[in-house]
Amino acid sequence: MSTKVLIIGACGQIGTELTAKLRATYGRENVIASDIRKMDSTVVTEGIFEVVNALDYNQIENLIEKYEITDVYLMAALLSATAEKNPAFAWDLNMNSLFHVLNLAKAGKIKKIFWPSSIAVFGPTTPRDNTPQYTIMEPSTVYGISKQSGERWCEYYNKQYGVDVRSIRYPGLISWTTPPGGGTTDYAVDIYYKALSDKKYTCFLSENTALPMMYMDDAIKATISIMQAPAENIKVRSSYNLSAISFTPKEIAESIKKHIPEFAIDYAPDFRQAIADSWPASIDDSVARKDWGWQHDFDMERMTSVMLENLAKK
Ligand SMILES: NC(=O)c1ccc[n+]([C@@H]2O[C@H](COP(=O)([O-])OP(=O)(O)OC[C@H]3O[C@@H](n4cnc5c(N)ncnc54)[C@H](O)[C@@H]3O)[C@@H](O)[C@H]2O)c1
Repeated sequence: MSTKVLIIGACGQIGTELTAKLRATYGRENVIASDIRKMDSTVVTEGIFEVVNALDYNQIENLIEKYEITDVYLMAALLSATAEKNPAFAWDLNMNSLFHVLNLAKAGKIKKIFWPSSIAVFGPTTPRDNTPQYTIMEPSTVYGISKQSGERWCEYYNKQYGVDVRSIRYPGLISWTTPPGGGTTDYAVDIYYKALSDKKYTCFLSENTALPMMYMDDAIKATISIMQAPAENIKVRSSYNLSAISFTPKEIAESIKKHIPEFAIDYAPDFRQAIADSWPASIDDSVARKDWGWQHDFDMERMTSVMLENLAKK
């Protein structure tokens, strides 16, 4: 049976680039993009697009039957900073959308699920440097609690019902095509926009706050390669640590100054500082590297060059 993909939440920061790559990989006719909002973007204009609410089981089931979907990528969620402002809704969306997709797989209607977790599953009691795959996990944000619970349920559905669900704990993701959706690492995208437009940036995190980050192309590569790996290689069925680079606001500012010498940064930490302080500074992803051959391509200098070049054109 050939692969037919449904992406739920396709108009977001990750979904936009994931949709383009999946269309290039499997053919436009085999990739159905969906979102609760219909955006003026390539996701809608360059292939099949459907409006769907991730909280509506019947709508998802209908799409799966209509297009004979095999693989679902569930990208709809409320992100860390937004979730803190609306905890009950974040819990509802992040958990029930996952249950719908897990239950559709349990019922044999789809073959494979990709569901993203996050470094937010870790908390203030987790070792901060080189955080291991298996460690203390006491998340202190609504978002982190929903992701950690989601991981437990993914593993449970795999062990109890044989559901083929695969997951990655994304770090902060940096990209130039679609703006980020309300996360604590959004500063690392905004800073490039402001460096080009204003030559200065006020950062909502303090200068020495190190966080794990990744350029979007690497995240998309990881997502598609974990889904294409043989099932027996995917030994972790909660979620894999994934890592590329780790840097502070001060360090990213230095890398921008190599291209824009007059660029200036100052710092005005807000509520997102406490979220960042509860997360790891760097991640040990050796298990993903061993199990399914993960490796990253982008370091900070390469990412800064690509971001500034593309945003300047944009
Ligand atoms: N971007 C990051 O840095 C990052 C890091 C770690 C984990 N993640 C995870 O990756 C996933 C995608 O993140 P993103 O950055 O693309 O988020 P985003 O906010 O940019 O996009 C989410 C998309 O989901 C859609 N959506 C929201 N509610 C919906 C609903 N009820 N039905 C259908 N669609 C709905 C939104 O319209 C949006 O287009 C999320 O699970 C997020 O937690 C992201």
